[in-house]
Amino acid sequence: MTRVSCNSGFVSSVNHSPPSLRRQAFCYILWKMMTSRDRWRVCKRVCLMFFLAGVTLTIVQRGNISTGPQFQLDRQTRKEPSDETDVQKRGPYTLANRFWKPMKAKKPKQETSTVEEPHHVTQELITKSWDITSANCSANLNFTSTEWFAGLEPTFKQFLLYRHCRFFPMTINHPEKCSGDIYLLMVVKSIITQHDRREVIRKTWGKEQVIDGRKIKTLFLLGASSNEAEKANHQKLLEYEDYIYGDILQWDFMDSFFNLTLKETHFLKWFSTYCPGVRYIFKGDDDVFVSVPNIIEYLEISSDVKNLFAGDVIFKAKPIRKKDNKYYIPQALYNKTHYPPYAGGGGFLMDGPLARKLYSASETLELYPIDDVFLGMCLEVLQVTPIRHNAFKTFGLMRNKKSKLNREPCFFRGMIVVHKLLPPELMAMWKLVNSNLVCSQKVQLL
Ligand SMILES: *[C@@H]1O[C@H](CO)[C@@H](O)[C@H](O)[C@H]1NC(C)=O
Ligand SMILES: *[C@@H]1O[C@H](CO)[C@@H](O)[C@H](O)[C@H]1NC(C)=O
Ligand SMILES: *[C@@H]1O[C@H](CO)[C@@H](O)[C@H](O)[C@H]1NC(C)=O
Ligand SMILES: *[C@@H]1O[C@H](CO)[C@@H](O)[C@H](O)[C@H]1NC(C)=O
Repeated sequence: MTRVSCNSGFVSSVNHSPPSLRRQAFCYILWKMMTSRDRWRVCKRVCLMFFLAGVTLTIVQRGNISTGPQFQLDRQTRKEPSDETDVQKRGPYTLANRFWKPMKAKKPKQETSTVEEPHHVTQELITKSWDITSANCSANLNFTSTEWFAGLEPTFKQFLLYRHCRFFPMTINHPEKCSGDIYLLMVVKSIITQHDRREVIRKTWGKEQVIDGRKIKTLFLLGASSNEAEKANHQKLLEYEDYIYGDILQWDFMDSFFNLTLKETHFLKWFSTYCPGVRYIFKGDDDVFVSVPNIIEYLEISSDVKNLFAGDVIFKAKPIRKKDNKYYIPQALYNKTHYPPYAGGGGFLMDGPLARKLYSASETLELYPIDDVFLGMCLEVLQVTPIRHNAFKTFGLMRNKKSKLNREPCFFRGMIVVHKLLPPELMAMWKLVNSNLVCSQKVQLL
């Protein structure tokens, strides 16, 4: 192939150029005198020259991309919807060099990176943005001298000292993520070190896609690392992860168990700020199995329900008073006999308008150390009763670890959320459920 095109190109240039003929005539004569073996040699040389010229040009062009404003442009276009396939094609690691270069990798501020957005979106982002810029909140020492406080466990003491600190600045934000009409926003609670869980979720149920015209987007919710070593080793890695995928929201509060409620209220505030066009939200943990087709089927049949809030709801749950339990709550913190109905935080669905109302409701309450119970308290303020549905298994399977259902793909196929699967198990189960699985009896839960 190369030989043919090269050959004909050379010859034709000799034949068809009328002026400055002398040199060309010389070439022509030379060409005629050559044996075919000589011609092949010349041809090879010319081809090599073209090839080297091509390589040089490419290198020069590449060099341009990683300098100055061109870099920012490139980063912006990477954020457009079509770029996911682009990243997949090139592989994330081709982006590595640019990110780790100390100066040029400086992230442009999200609020200013709207150059290419339509005008009205720019306006909206300017008027509505995350308005907390300083995390200036000191411990409340008002009750430290009281007797009941002295008797509390250290974690509760810490919770109480900082309970009034309601809002923190964002370290990683994606205002653009919620622009336009989104049918389902999947938000996943995660912590900084769990890169592998996020990775497998992106490849399985968290994959951003459009199903029958319904846009689905995914975001991960994170706080700051609770220890310095972790901060040093993982924060930059997290920023790189976000540079590749653009799906991380991070706030500057310590990512601890009792601060999960902060994650809840921060997400609700973020959602109320940036997401006017989102129809439904799935919110869950990063160690669950989720079936997106089942979610959509469920939402379709529930489309008339106002204030939709569905999940693994427990009614009349009693606060746990055993001190060695993860969910132990001292009487001093909650003295009623029952919690309001609430859905297990492992995975639940709510509609966008309700999420905005929940944010307003959360403002009227003191923070409670258990995030899903807190959300139940907010629902109670709104007088909305959450819907219990069998396809959400956020508590059930934990109790019965030996159950065959735990590893039965036909069971998973009929569910919306199942707790709990770690990355390799999740991947394996995902493949099984999405294979040509034949289920003798269809588990009918929808
Ligand atoms: C933090 O808050 C205290 C009182 O609440 C105030 O005196 C101080 O100036 C604030 N510091 C900053 C940096 O905002
Ligand atoms: C501590 O108590 C004082 C006086 O009762 C009150 O004004 C203040 O708001 C309290 N501080 C906090 C952080 O609640
Ligand atoms: C929650 O985060 C804040 C801010 O980082 C921190 O001061 C507080 O101690 C944390 N609370 C708990 C209970 O971990
Ligand atoms: C329960 O707590 C509330 C507020 O914390 C208090 O007003 C009430 O007296 C307490 N009730 C009992 C029975 O301790």
